[in-house]
This record gives sequence, C-alpha cells and structure tokens, in this order.
Amino acid sequence: MSRRIWWLVVASLLLWTVAPAGWAAPASKLEIFSWWTAGGEAEGLAGLFSVYKKLYPNVEIINATVAGGAGAQAKAVLATRLTGGDPPDSFQVHAGLEVEKYNPARFLEPLDDMFKSEGWEKVLPKDLLTLLRYQGKFWSVPVNIHRANVLWYNRKVFQDNNLTPPKTFDEFFKVADTLKAKGIVPFVFGSKDGWEAGHVFEVVLVGTLGADGYRGLWTGKTQWTDARVTQALNTFKRMLTYVNTDHPALTWDGAGQYLIDGKGAMQIMGDWQDGWFQSKRYTGYGWAPPPGTAGIFDALSDSFALPKGAKNRQNAVNWLKVVGSREGQEAFNPKKGSICARTDCSTALFNQYLQSAARDWKTNALVPSVMHGAAAFESWATKFKDIVALFVTSGDVARTQAALQSACREAKVCK
Ligand code: GAL
Repeated sequence: MSRRIWWLVVASLLLWTVAPAGWAAPASKLEIFSWWTAGGEAEGLAGLFSVYKKLYPNVEIINATVAGGAGAQAKAVLATRLTGGDPPDSFQVHAGLEVEKYNPARFLEPLDDMFKSEGWEKVLPKDLLTLLRYQGKFWSVPVNIHRANVLWYNRKVFQDNNLTPPKTFDEFFKVADTLKAKGIVPFVFGSKDGWEAGHVFEVVLVGTLGADGYRGLWTGKTQWTDARVTQALNTFKRMLTYVNTDHPALTWDGAGQYLIDGKGAMQIMGDWQDGWFQSKRYTGYGWAPPPGTAGIFDALSDSFALPKGAKNRQNAVNWLKVVGSREGQEAFNPKKGSICARTDCSTALFNQYLQSAARDWKTNALVPSVMHGAAAFESWATKFKDIVALFVTSGDVARTQAALQSACREAKVCK
C-alpha cells in the first residue's frame, strides 16, 4: 500500500469513528399512516408498498396503522401527532372537506407543483379534482374511488328462495320477511366502530331523497326538517328490525362473515367489501344498488397528504408519486376493491364488480359521501355519525331529526 493510500484509509476510519450519529448514512425510512388493516385493505396497501420498494429498495417502510374502519380511531391519533409536532411522513385522508380537520394551511404542504409536474390534472377526473381542491389548493394525492352505496347479497340464498335484489324499500321489506321466515338474517349489520349506522343511513337518505335532495342536505338547499328525512329515519328504523342481534360486537368485515356463511342475506357497505371478500376467497356474492339508488354513485376517494416537517420528506415525496402513478394504482385498487382515481388504468386487471363500478362512475349521478369525508367538515360529519349511532338504540325519530337539524345549524349551513 502506498503511503498516500495508507493515510487516506486512516483518515476515513478516523472520520467514521468520530462522526456524530447524524452523519451516518442518511436516515432512509418512510412512515405511512393509515387505517388499512382489514382484509383487502392490507393487501392493497402492500401492493403500493411493493411498487415503492421496487423503486427505492433501500428505504425501510414503517406501516403505521391504527385499526378501525373509516378511520374511527386513526383520525384522532393523527390529529394529536400533527399538533404535537410528530407527523408521519405521509397519511391517509379522504378527498373533500375532511382535510379541514388537519388545518392544511398550518400543518400540510400544498401539492400543486407536484400535480403539475406529474401531469395529474390530465389523468384525473374533473369531479375528483374539484373535490380535492380546498381553499384553492391540492393537499393530497388520490389513489382510488370508492362507492359507498352497494347492496351486497349472498347469491345462493337469493336463488334458493327465488328472490331478486330489492329495488325499492317496499321490495326490501318483502324480501326481508321471506328470509326471516326461513331463519336467515335478512340484513347483516355491524356497529362496533360507531360509524357503520351513519354509513347505512347515508345510503337510505340517498335512496329516499334522490341525488339532488341528498346533495342539498349538505349545502342547505334541503332542510333536515323535510318530511323525506322523517321517512328515511322511519325506513332505517324498520330495517334495523331485520338485523343480527350481535351487531354491536361486529365490525363491517366481521359482519360480512354472515354472508360468507350463508347465515345472512344482504349488507349495505362500501365496495371495500369487494376487497374483503376477495381476501377471504369468497366468490358467492352479488351486488346491486341499494333501494332507490339506481343510477346514483355515492362517492369517496382515499388520498395521501404531505405534512409539514415530515422527517423523511424526500421519501414521502417519492411515495406520493407512486400513489399517483398508474403502476401504483394498478397494484393497489384491484385488491382494495376500488377503481383507480386515474382514468388510464387497465380494465383487464379488475374483477367483474369493479368493472361495473368503473362504468357506473362514468355514467351515474355522483353524490358525495358524508361518512367518508367528502360532503361535510369533519366536525359536522362526526355529529351526524354520533346522532345516527344513538338512533340505533333510541329509535326516537323526532328527537333524531331535531338533532340532525341543529347539527346543520351548528355547521352554519342551515338557519
Ligand atoms: C373508508 C375508506 C376505505 C375503507 C373503509 C373501511 O373510510 O375510505 O378505504 O378502508 O373506510 O375501513
């Protein structure tokens, strides 16, 4: 070894030993926060991770999940982390007014430049872009489009009993009576996480008021005192007389087991149920628009945001690019039970249900989901959720309707 090389080796060894910890190889981590833990959800997320890993094999992904459908527990944990100055590198948030909860001007980075450089405005549907813009800016990158209004049913149970999926609420109750007489749970329900009743009631509102009437509830055009809201509450109350008695102990996916086992016949849930059925290798399910909602697509979209002060900002920026990419969305959505947010995904990758959802998304009247962040500020959506959860046990129509009206007033949308 020449003298020069020898000195170089000694010098670099010295530098290595005295360097402060922060000088070592750059931290290569990426913490992704979501509530995707159920079957289908977890597989979809893993699909996104695998695309990221292919591009950035040296980055260690920390999968920070907080279980609980619809973010029932995750949203509060996230808010505490943001206000406490300990943000994850990127986190799940619904497209729409939900983002207001996280005070974007203060805690998030606007992503307009990334939308431009990645050309997303050309490949994302206009309606979705409109939903994503809050205070004139993009704050998150959408990965999918979900449909909230789906009636899932056990095909064999329906065939064996000569039934067809009910198109109206009257038909629903006829079908339910037939099934009840056979000892099958007509309407499968889980209410453990507190949001599921709000989800079903939202769908009943859509089915009772129609697209315009329902939309108006969130803009002040339809009053919550409207007789059709009374009607929706009465319908929902009656539907609850056909549910499994163990619903307070079951989550949305736990309740789905009734369908798989042929012990239950119908369930109203978003199309993450399609992802869950796939994860269970269950193929005996059918789908239809819930009563009154044919031609209406109750929509929501999952997206990811970039908090200010993300510890691994560059890794997070790369993550968001994967989330918005065609490859990322094609790896995620077929497993998640959602369609791509992008318009250029290959249809062939999707199962029959998802292909039908993609067609409906293009042709149906779109309405925003309230239980999944699209229609109202989080504070109002939370009140709606709690009022409806209480209704499941109280059954008090008048009091519930009054509470819904005052929640609208508190949101300053109703007078
Ligand atoms: C929704 C979310 C979906 C699905 C569902 C159940 O809020 O948008 O992606 O995961 O909750 O957890």
